[in-house]
Amino acid sequence: MKLWGGRFTKETDQLVHNFNASISFDQKFYKQDILGSIAHVTMLEKQGILTTDERDQIIAGCKGILEDIENGTLAITEEHEDIHSFVEANLIERIGEPGKKLHTGRSRNDQVALDMKLFTRDEIVAINDLLKELLVTIHNIMKAHTTTYMPGFTHLQKAQPVTLAHHFGAYFEMFRRDRSRLRDIYDRMNYCPLGAGALAGTTYPLDREETASFLNFDGPTLNSMDSVSDRDYLIELLSAMSMIMMHLSRFCEEIIVWNSNEYQFVEIDDSYSTGSSIMPQKKNPDIAELVRGKTGRVYGALLSLLTTMKGLPLAYNKDMQEDKELTFDAIDTVKGCLSLFTGMIATMRFHTEHMEASAKNGFTNATDAADYLVNHGVPFRDAHGIIGQLVLTCIEKDISLDELPLSEYKKISPVFEEDIYEAISMKTCVDRRNTIGAPGEQAMKQVIAMNETYLKES
Ligand code: ARG
Repeated sequence: MKLWGGRFTKETDQLVHNFNASISFDQKFYKQDILGSIAHVTMLEKQGILTTDERDQIIAGCKGILEDIENGTLAITEEHEDIHSFVEANLIERIGEPGKKLHTGRSRNDQVALDMKLFTRDEIVAINDLLKELLVTIHNIMKAHTTTYMPGFTHLQKAQPVTLAHHFGAYFEMFRRDRSRLRDIYDRMNYCPLGAGALAGTTYPLDREETASFLNFDGPTLNSMDSVSDRDYLIELLSAMSMIMMHLSRFCEEIIVWNSNEYQFVEIDDSYSTGSSIMPQKKNPDIAELVRGKTGRVYGALLSLLTTMKGLPLAYNKDMQEDKELTFDAIDTVKGCLSLFTGMIATMRFHTEHMEASAKNGFTNATDAADYLVNHGVPFRDAHGIIGQLVLTCIEKDISLDELPLSEYKKISPVFEEDIYEAISMKTCVDRRNTIGAPGEQAMKQVIAMNETYLKES
């Protein structure tokens, strides 16, 4: 059934119908569409626009449609243009005349704006929950590894020693910010567009506050033209999801490197790895690579919607229908990646001995060795030069600074004593960095305690 046959003298061309229709994807929010209709007619009755009996019949009809879709007895069929037409046609079929009053004081423009908001609002909550699970997993790894030493890198060159807790702590911060971004978006979008009509409100005495609060919005939107043409919240959501993917992708990249034969810092569990069809020895980090790869899809969705929206005059234009498939795809992608990634790191083994050996072999304690000299009165620039020469000696001998005999140290500067070894141990190097945010064990434990409170409260 069409909602708009009256002024037409010809049937729509089949290809036009197919091109124009959105039911293949907007059926995803059948539940939200029905809920919005129930809110609408509840308000219409309160305002005396519908009789109590009409309202009750419509609501019963709507609930029946919902039930039948959910138990599989009512199939959403594609001869309808969209989910809105489908529900309305079905309602009229079920209850007759009163069903024709459902759309009083409403347009598909405010209806679809509402449905999409209701749908994305729930998805924001779901993504937020998945982020929380990821944070809990990271938190548990952090708690177990405050003295697991590993190299920290700049330029992917070993730089200074950190701990595994500290490294994972960086990602904890990123995903915590991601959650707060979602919260912001939720708060900003949570105004109800229903009642905006096609673009200019309606002539009926609608109570927009009533429908807004019925649907748990913070209030009605304040400009009817903006209400039907605002897609900012979707662009914000796509942007926040792009950021989540960027964080996951960076993390995946590190895990892929750490899982490589050369590094062997971690081993991804067999249940999260895949093999090769030809090379029997292979165990590949496909899941991490796929998450990294899927980041492109989500970025693409963001760019796509930004581009769709850039030239649109007020108010509604059909271009906006393009918001759906790409947003749905991005949401599914982000949710899938978050849960897979969480499972992967929860089951991953850490080869802590390789991490520590790597930190030692990479001269990550060279800055601390220079600091030792500075603490004994040598100017920093001279100390830098002295340690540089010692590093060169070690490279020639293929040993670490810890393994260089004291006699070699003394050859280059008489200031060195036996306590140099203590001063450049991984534990000392890390624990001397104890300002908040640094990897030192005390500082790290303080942050972990703060994270624990955050996880309890949010
Ligand atoms: N399927 C449309 C969309 O997603 C619903 C709104 C249709 N409104 C209209 N005036 N054709 O945007």
